[in-house]
Amino acid sequence: MKALVLSGGLGTRLRPLTHSMPKQLVPVGNKPVLVRGLEKIREAGIREVGMIVGDTGPEIERVIGDGSRFGLRIHYIPQEAPMGLAHCVMIARDFLGQDDFLMYLGDNVLSDGLGGTLAEFHEHRPAVQLLVKQVTNPSDFGIAELTDTGEVYRLEEKPRRPRGDLAVMGVYLFTPAVHEAVRSIKPSARNEWEITDAIRLMMEQGQPVRARVYTGFWKDTGQLDELLECNRMVLRTECPSAVLGSVDAASTLIGPVLVEPGASVVRSHVVGPTIIGPDAVVCDSEVGPYTALGSGTCLRNSGIENSIVLEGASLSDVTGVEGSLIGREAQISRATPGRRFILGDHATVQVGA
Ligand code: TTP
Repeated sequence: MKALVLSGGLGTRLRPLTHSMPKQLVPVGNKPVLVRGLEKIREAGIREVGMIVGDTGPEIERVIGDGSRFGLRIHYIPQEAPMGLAHCVMIARDFLGQDDFLMYLGDNVLSDGLGGTLAEFHEHRPAVQLLVKQVTNPSDFGIAELTDTGEVYRLEEKPRRPRGDLAVMGVYLFTPAVHEAVRSIKPSARNEWEITDAIRLMMEQGQPVRARVYTGFWKDTGQLDELLECNRMVLRTECPSAVLGSVDAASTLIGPVLVEPGASVVRSHVVGPTIIGPDAVVCDSEVGPYTALGSGTCLRNSGIENSIVLEGASLSDVTGVEGSLIGREAQISRATPGRRFILGDHATVQVGA
């Protein structure tokens, strides 16, 4: 069993961050989303990973390396443009050979392991096994309809009038039968080779397609709100109470707060779950809950909650920041008078009253 991890794409919905970094490396709970996915793959017992990468391949390779750090062997497979999930399967043909494989979208975050899914796949060994999750907004997803015993009888992409509410997640299990199917489809109206078309074709041919209902937490982190939701979930479940840096006597920590080595908290109030990253400085500020400050971040006389702040960013004399994603080395400070911005292309700013 191999894994195919999809880490190309454009990440347009997370611009401008994705102008300078791949979305799969954006951290939740101070750990890149892609690392979380690789850990799940390793826990499920898989060792060989093909990693699809696009223009941001060099940065992914610099951070992830050959995979040995995660107990994996990673082979990088460049994709010249994001031409669809089925296109990823096509270009990974040589790497995948005649093996069964797990396809994992590199921007997805899961809470539970994949062991049960793999066991079910090995037991029934259908041509395809999907993971599906109940959602409240089925028109935004690919929707699968299943029999009581888990066979998929209908698969619809973003249905306008959904008949069910089980969304297809970014985790698929395939036998090598998928290779012929991806070769037989044509690009869709949006000019992508769609994996749904390949799976539907296999269903039409009578090949068994099953789905397993996933009850854990699942989000794809392609957009800000989902990313923040993942950050909250991860902090809620993983954040310990530990002070490995320094906290002065004038500061208070409430709930689970991790103060990483080299970080200092001075005359501040921190509400957990919150992580103060390595070498961060928090001075005369209010932080949390649900906030992850990356390494070397600096907050002075500021207030922030429910946010992700990447390494080296700083806030000075700015209060009431919430629901935000702040990129590496970004600086936010008070302007007197008025408001001043130097914003990257496609940046989003929402200014309160
Ligand atoms: P998407 O989120 O569908 O695509 P995207 O990254 O281009 O995002 P946006 O719509 O914001 O521009 O992709 C899901 C995952 O699959 C993500 O990790 C990127 C990856 N992917 C590829 O590696 N190659 C592809 O051809 C496509 C379509 C996606």
